[in-house]
Amino acid sequence: MEIVELKKGIYWVGAIDWNVRDFHGYSTPTGTTYNAYLILDQKNVLVDTVKAPFYLEMLGRISEIIDPSKIDIIVSNHVEMDHSSSLPPLVERIGNPTILTSERGQKGLEKHYNKAMNFKAVKTGETFSIGRRSLVFVEAPMLHWPDSMFTYIPEDRVLLPNDAFGQHIATCQRFEDEVGDEVMRHGRKYFANILWPLAPLILKKIEEVEKMGIPIDIIGPSHGLIWRKNPGRIIQAYKTWSEGKSSKKILVVYDTMWGSTEVLAKAILKGLIEEGVEAKLLHLRSNHRSDIIDEMLEARGILLGSPTLNNGMFPTMGDFLTYMKGLKPKGKIFGLFGSYGWGGGALKEIKRYLEQEKFEIWEKEMTVQYVPGPEEIQKAIEFGKEFAKKANGTD
Ligand code: FEO
Repeated sequence: MEIVELKKGIYWVGAIDWNVRDFHGYSTPTGTTYNAYLILDQKNVLVDTVKAPFYLEMLGRISEIIDPSKIDIIVSNHVEMDHSSSLPPLVERIGNPTILTSERGQKGLEKHYNKAMNFKAVKTGETFSIGRRSLVFVEAPMLHWPDSMFTYIPEDRVLLPNDAFGQHIATCQRFEDEVGDEVMRHGRKYFANILWPLAPLILKKIEEVEKMGIPIDIIGPSHGLIWRKNPGRIIQAYKTWSEGKSSKKILVVYDTMWGSTEVLAKAILKGLIEEGVEAKLLHLRSNHRSDIIDEMLEARGILLGSPTLNNGMFPTMGDFLTYMKGLKPKGKIFGLFGSYGWGGGALKEIKRYLEQEKFEIWEKEMTVQYVPGPEEIQKAIEFGKEFAKKANGTD
């Protein structure tokens, strides 16, 4: 196996999951990685582990560098099983390593694995000497679980923040400068789908870390590529995304039964384009919900279109709204359109859902019975134009 060294004596020993395509509801078209880091010093340290099916892959990488039984300490930055489920077999293999984790991390690991381990809970600012180096811990509760924490190695200026700054991408490369701009696209999707609801906490945490004045040469997240050329780029991007600044982009997110809602969606799109805004048409059964959320992060307006099925919205719209609700997107305006046969009901149901979550809704709606005729298509174009003006404050 290839040996990947971040800094002298600090190695990536994680695993590449080329085949995962659905990460609890998030599409991962290339797969992902589970990153673990080995630090050789007077005390040898492993920071995080990998998802259990990849335990032997991680162990193989560690064994290329040292005998795994020589690991003295395992840092568990996060309890979620993609990073901790190799802990029980590894503890068996090593003997009785010290497990450094946050207080909530300890509780979480005990509950997950019901196994006696040599835990030592650490707190923010606590420093743990391992020889030439030290480990400094920064608790990061709710980024994104209550137990989450970052580990920093001041002597090497390396930050290991677990899920923060990651990307779900599987590649042969390990560093961001080896892949080009693709890394930012994956970083944005990861932020939108995992960290977006925590934006206020992220801004505070970045401020806190900046106040600590810690220099950072390398950020080694727990998924995807390691930031070594320009770690400041992803920190700045997190600030921008957390501040919720939107572009003039407008999305038309819809589904269709017999094509009527799609005719409206395309006419609305025409109106948006004629008004000069960047617009995208996103059919719910052709685009994964997590890709639509990625597009939403920087969009200002979202037009939701649904046919009526059994007096309610189309099921894919329900799926999307449920997923979106949890991510608490801020600063967006929503418009509604759709079609029906007789009773209608889709728009009412979508509206009720959006109102419950206190999203901003445009007062105008467009709904058409059966199949839109030429006049209705023209109205849909005008509807798109008006929404563009409303969303971008030029009405
Ligand atoms: Fe990658 Fe929250 O686990």
